[in-house]
Amino acid sequence: MTAPAAPHRSLDELTLGSSMSLEDLVSRDGLNEMVKSAHELFGVPIRVFAEEGKLLADAAESIDLYAYLNTSRAGRAALSEVVAAVKALAPGPAGESQYRCVTGALYRVVAIEYDSRQIGRMILGPFAEPSSLPPSTLLQLDTQLDADQLRTLHAKLPHADEQTVGSVAHHLAKVLDLLLFSGHRALLTSNMHLASVRESFRELEDKNQKLQVAYDRLKELDRLKSNFLATVSHELRTPLTSIIGYSEMLVEGLAGDLTNEQRDFVQTIRDKGDQLLALIKGLLDLSKLESGTMSLRKNHVDVAALVKDVVSTMAPTARKKEVELAFEVEKGLPSIWADAERLRQVLLNLTENAIKFTPVSGAVRLAARITGMEAQNAGDTGGMVLLGARRTAVEMRVADTGIGIPETERMRVFDAFYQVDSSSTREAGGTGLGLSIVKRLVDGHDGTVRIEANQPRGTVFVVTIPVKRATIG
Ligand SMILES: Nc1ncnc2c1ncn2[C@@H]1O[C@H](COP(=O)(O)OP(=O)(O)O)[C@@H](O)[C@H]1O
Ligand SMILES: [Mg+2]
Repeated sequence: MTAPAAPHRSLDELTLGSSMSLEDLVSRDGLNEMVKSAHELFGVPIRVFAEEGKLLADAAESIDLYAYLNTSRAGRAALSEVVAAVKALAPGPAGESQYRCVTGALYRVVAIEYDSRQIGRMILGPFAEPSSLPPSTLLQLDTQLDADQLRTLHAKLPHADEQTVGSVAHHLAKVLDLLLFSGHRALLTSNMHLASVRESFRELEDKNQKLQVAYDRLKELDRLKSNFLATVSHELRTPLTSIIGYSEMLVEGLAGDLTNEQRDFVQTIRDKGDQLLALIKGLLDLSKLESGTMSLRKNHVDVAALVKDVVSTMAPTARKKEVELAFEVEKGLPSIWADAERLRQVLLNLTENAIKFTPVSGAVRLAARITGMEAQNAGDTGGMVLLGARRTAVEMRVADTGIGIPETERMRVFDAFYQVDSSSTREAGGTGLGLSIVKRLVDGHDGTVRIEANQPRGTVFVVTIPVKRATIG
């Protein structure tokens, strides 16, 4: 997008202080209309010229006498002298003046002024005074021209007395003044409008530019943050593995017997170390997913086996919390094209959440069944968007009877570090990374994840993964 050239506009330009021209102020149609009606009324030819000499309006018929003069050499010469003289006719300091041409007819020129500046001229004529006779200059112009013919044609010149032409000119000047005034006003208004539009455009562009700068900066910061997270997590992991390893050895008595109290303390160190390691692994996963460097090792995955495995892994946690954990897998489920370990991580995260946010004596149910899903992107159909193209998919549900997620929070819980209730009185632990990893892993499988409300209470996470790998064509 290119901005219109918008140099600094002076006030003068805005108000047309010096650049006003007759043509800008009055429409040519309006001018023509005005001179035509005056011509019809008084029979005198009228022409309006702009200051630079351009003819703007013209109400005149061809005059037979002049046509006849044009047939002779001396006549033509005399006429071109008239044309030149009339063109150069200046109104003078009084605002009007007069010229008598070779035929004895008169031309009257009146200045068109606006704001005490001359912006054009109006020329009335030629006209002959009533009962005037052809002058000798005309009769003796060329022997080729017939005197009788000249007399007849002279009598057919437009006739008007000087006084009438004077008052017609005066009258026209007044009308023009009115036209000019309203034209000026309209022009000013539209110029003001243009100026304000130009100004708001400039302001918008300014803001746009600032936004772009801020956006670029944020993007850069986001990249730095991801890099920082990746580096720090990586550097933390190595010493942490030692802490966990050594505390494990201590607990197992490899460095001699510990008192009960010592063993408790070291066990706490170990547990907290494990928690920290899980967090760091999450951060690393997330940064790998964000930077697109996590590679998925996809293969044929048996969903039924996967669900059973997740349930047996989480069963002790569920039991401890007195939450019932059950599953249901549709018979004859096809295997899906996925990274088994990552998909297991998805289901584990969801199940862990489900148990965590479900109070004692609640229930968590995993289910898997076959379903269909819309083709996700153009790549699925080889670049073509096939309306209603559906792929066979497997749907995995993790339903709980817990505290539920309000509708307004359902998009946000997939953001990294976002927790619905982040207050310090919050009972459940965690860092808010689980679901953001889930979302990215599911995306990496061309799948979808959504949240529904469970009945009568609780949450259902629905993960849908296509059965076949995306094929081109
Ligand atoms: N099954 C669920 N029931 C209610 N709230 C949930 C459930 N799963 C996730 N949430 C909400 O989403 C937030 C983000 O979840 P997650 O990314 O796994 O982080 P974390 O479990 O570490 O808090 C949780 O803190 C919780 O507020
Ligand atoms: Mg979680």
